[in-house]
Amino acid sequence: MLSGKRLLLIVSGGIAAYKTPDLVRRLRGQGAEVRVVMTPAAAEFVTPLSLASVSGHRVYQDLFSLTDEAEMGHIELSRAADLVVVAPASADLLAKLAHGLANDLASTLLLATDKEVLAAPAMNLRMWQHPATQDNLARLKARGLQVVGPDEGEMACGEYGPGRMAEPDAIVAAVEDYFNAPRPLAGLKALVTSGPTHEPIDPVRYIANRSSGRQGHAIAAALAHRGAAVTLVTGPVQLPDPQGVQTLHVESADEMLQACRNALPVDVAVCAAAVSDWRASEQAEQKIKKDGTSPPALQLSENPDILAQLSKAGTERPGLVIGFAAETRDVAAQATAKRERKGCDWILANDVSAESGTFGGPDNSIILIDAAGREDWPRISKEEVAERLAARIAQTLDRTPVEEHRMPDRLQDGQQQ
Ligand code: C5P
Repeated sequence: MLSGKRLLLIVSGGIAAYKTPDLVRRLRGQGAEVRVVMTPAAAEFVTPLSLASVSGHRVYQDLFSLTDEAEMGHIELSRAADLVVVAPASADLLAKLAHGLANDLASTLLLATDKEVLAAPAMNLRMWQHPATQDNLARLKARGLQVVGPDEGEMACGEYGPGRMAEPDAIVAAVEDYFNAPRPLAGLKALVTSGPTHEPIDPVRYIANRSSGRQGHAIAAALAHRGAAVTLVTGPVQLPDPQGVQTLHVESADEMLQACRNALPVDVAVCAAAVSDWRASEQAEQKIKKDGTSPPALQLSENPDILAQLSKAGTERPGLVIGFAAETRDVAAQATAKRERKGCDWILANDVSAESGTFGGPDNSIILIDAAGREDWPRISKEEVAERLAARIAQTLDRTPVEEHRMPDRLQDGQQQ
């Protein structure tokens, strides 16, 4: 199942490290090639010699080893793999990864890799439940970290609860799932805009809005997960860049438009950014001073409409252009009119009235409008909206694996039997 796959296994310090020779044996049994890196703490629980014997390669431990660096530089070690597996992933290593620390070989490789990372956490249950660990994990998952386990059970320290490393066969299954996951958008290019824009008034002040970027970032991640090559153009947000996505940071609508133009041609564009409709007509070069006279008048000019421009981009028009319509009343009617006006293919309309809690919040209720009519989605998380949208895009661009097309028939067959 894993024939020809190259895995980098990072073993961090924890009692569960004693299971890693078995894990390596099973991964190799499925045909994978496994290179092993250990933290100094891991070497207290399992010997480098055991892991070298079962992996068939020398084990790397030292960030500053001249011999290792001459043989295979640490950046190369992190890039030569198809997938990085961290097992066991200690609370310490997860914290380092969440905060970008790189003070040993394992954490440096994790920071330097351009590959996806699958972690099997293992730690004492109180460490697992600690808000610091859970915060780190949430942050890492938002960046695309894949996680297997931990299991619940009796721990080495005698306590009972979640924190045991997933069993080696479950880790092998998660690795197989990773490689077998359908990638219906492989070979396609996607452009996503996200977040607010900041329109400068003077060097210290700007016009902005309450968009968090959560929806757009989740869409970029969901498209990348399905194999698309994604460019995310984002205004200023408090979110980490999604993993596996080329993220371009901009401030103003003009900069966002320019970055989007540069990303063309693409197969699909999703405009989820809350672009400011207006900008200050003149930007003061110096901070505008309060001088005791009447307050300055703010003269506004209209910003370029990125969605409308992409929809009318002539030969460079993406095959599928999708916009959002944030409305506070008559949501469906306003969105239908907006779809016509802007010339996009689909509009995802959402209610952003203050009562809805949508702007900046975790959930969204969508009415999708396309040429065929409207589709009402239940109130679900922004991540689920992203998944559903990505699946619909894959189906429309007809890159859905044949098996998925056949699903309804199979179900019908099953019902008839
Ligand atoms: O006109 P309105 O801002 O309501 O339209 C919302 C949709 O248009 C969103 O998809 C948003 O990303 C896009 N938009 C844009 N450029 C603008 C204004 C809105 O791309 N200047």
